[in-house]
Amino acid sequence: MPGATIGLDLGTSTVLVYMAGKGIVLREPSVVAFDVETGEIVSIGYEAFKMLGRTSSRIVVTHPLENGVVADFELTREMIRYFLQKVCEYKVFKPKVIISVPNYVTIVEKRAVADAAKEAGARKTYVIEEALAAAIGAGVDISAPHGCCVVDVGGGTTDIGIISLNGIAVSSSIKVAGNTFDDEIIRYLRSKHNVLVGERTAEKIKTEIGSLVPLDTELKTVAKGRNLLTGLPQSVEVSSTELLEPLRAVAMQIVEAIKDVLEQATPELICDLFEDGLVLTGGGSLIKGMPELILQETGVSVRVPEDPVACVVKGTGMALKYADLLFEE
Ligand SMILES: Nc1ncnc2c1ncn2[C@@H]1O[C@H](COP(=O)(O)OP(=O)(O)OP(=O)(O)O)[C@@H](O)[C@H]1O
Ligand SMILES: [Mg+2]
Repeated sequence: MPGATIGLDLGTSTVLVYMAGKGIVLREPSVVAFDVETGEIVSIGYEAFKMLGRTSSRIVVTHPLENGVVADFELTREMIRYFLQKVCEYKVFKPKVIISVPNYVTIVEKRAVADAAKEAGARKTYVIEEALAAAIGAGVDISAPHGCCVVDVGGGTTDIGIISLNGIAVSSSIKVAGNTFDDEIIRYLRSKHNVLVGERTAEKIKTEIGSLVPLDTELKTVAKGRNLLTGLPQSVEVSSTELLEPLRAVAMQIVEAIKDVLEQATPELICDLFEDGLVLTGGGSLIKGMPELILQETGVSVRVPEDPVACVVKGTGMALKYADLLFEE
């Protein structure tokens, strides 16, 4: 595949790869397991994810990206290398790679991401802001003289951008997103039920029963963890009703960030946004009631595109046509 172009969404939780002509060819957790004594990588992606919370003291499972930014350069490079190798024969034809990064990252951080991809085997690398990529992937014509607001709630960051005429007019990026709901569930169960649950259990509770609005029929699940007083395993029943308030408190931080961005937009852009509604993407936005809460609190209607988790990667794959928007390395 000479001249292959690959879009890479290097998320805090998930890595997605998009190939021109093929669509999404890879979707795996962005985690790496390594041996602390030898420094050797044991597994990457799904295999490493299965080990989360179940390793010995020798094996550590880590997210090499924190809030979308390279926290560990070498592990990030090896993770990218592994995923690129999985999707293409890049040893023969090195691909061009376009990578998305959160809105707020510095030039130095953009360069670190681009360098990691280059060292992992990319022929050329470009970097694009997540909000722009999400808009392109959601089918927004970003070149139009018409404002569009995109809110991408990922695992580690929420990126908000008002886009018009090929650029981001106003933007914000906060470190409150899908994983913050998990942290809140862990905190709540510890303080209310004296039970400590792991990251994966908290995420499961959130996706199964977590809601930001009262549900017609209350949902319940059983969480397993460790009783903090006895140190023994304990199961506890958790309901969507009791989680409503703690989860809403997290979501309100996202709503406040959206309001801040809306307040900074010009009257013309605001009129466009009220007409079209805002576009909600990212896995973190899949928590029940997010569109309803945003509408209730901001008065702006919400459009959730098809496969909202894939919008950013689709956008990176399609972004080459907007070459002048890309940071080239
Ligand atoms: N059905 C669901 N309900 C609630 N939350 C969900 C659901 N599916 C995924 N999530 C959450 O979405 C988040 C991951 O979203 P996404 O894959 O968009 O993040 P990311 O791109 O890896 O992160 P970032 O953009 O912050 O670097 C996780 O917190 C995950 O728990
Ligand atoms: Mg993301």
